[in-house]
Amino acid sequence: MTVSGAAIYPGSFDPVTYGHLDIIGRAAGLFPRLVVAVVGNPSKRPMFSADERVALLRAEVAELPGGPGGGIEVVAFDGLLVDLCASRGITTIVKGLRGAGDLELELLMAQNNRDIGAVETVFLATAPERSHLASSFVREIARFGGRLDHAVPPAVERALRERAGA
Ligand code: PNS
Repeated sequence: MTVSGAAIYPGSFDPVTYGHLDIIGRAAGLFPRLVVAVVGNPSKRPMFSADERVALLRAEVAELPGGPGGGIEVVAFDGLLVDLCASRGITTIVKGLRGAGDLELELLMAQNNRDIGAVETVFLATAPERSHLASSFVREIARFGGRLDHAVPPAVERALRERAGA
């Protein structure tokens, strides 16, 4: 099934995990055009700069079916998501839901974005084998030199090891 139009998949992606890539791949199968928006998020202190996060994501997206030129675009973005949606003429946000813990905040964001930008949010259920992955865990595991091959692609793991010095 393909949904007509385009969607935005936003996140911090600090760094991208297999969980994100699962959602990106499946969303790209639903929407002919998918904009992956790397949000600067000044409220969090990221491990990777926005440019680094974009570069890591672009390299991984290039490996996906429908990769380069296949309708997936990765952009850095600061500001309100609804403003990015408006500037692109996009009215759908895609989010992944790992479980009930995600739902509470995601529901509020979806409702606020609908109020302030008339933008609908579509939730995709994270693949069960990816539902325990989170960038925050990945960063912590990297800091202490733990295994990461279950969570991130090799290039992302290399970047994490280099940054963490582990
Ligand atoms: O990967 P994250 O950190 O869970 O993603 C959260 C993100 C970036 C999607 C969220 O913080 C966001 O949408 N930020 C953009 C600013 C915005 O529009 N805020 C209003 C939300 S109601």
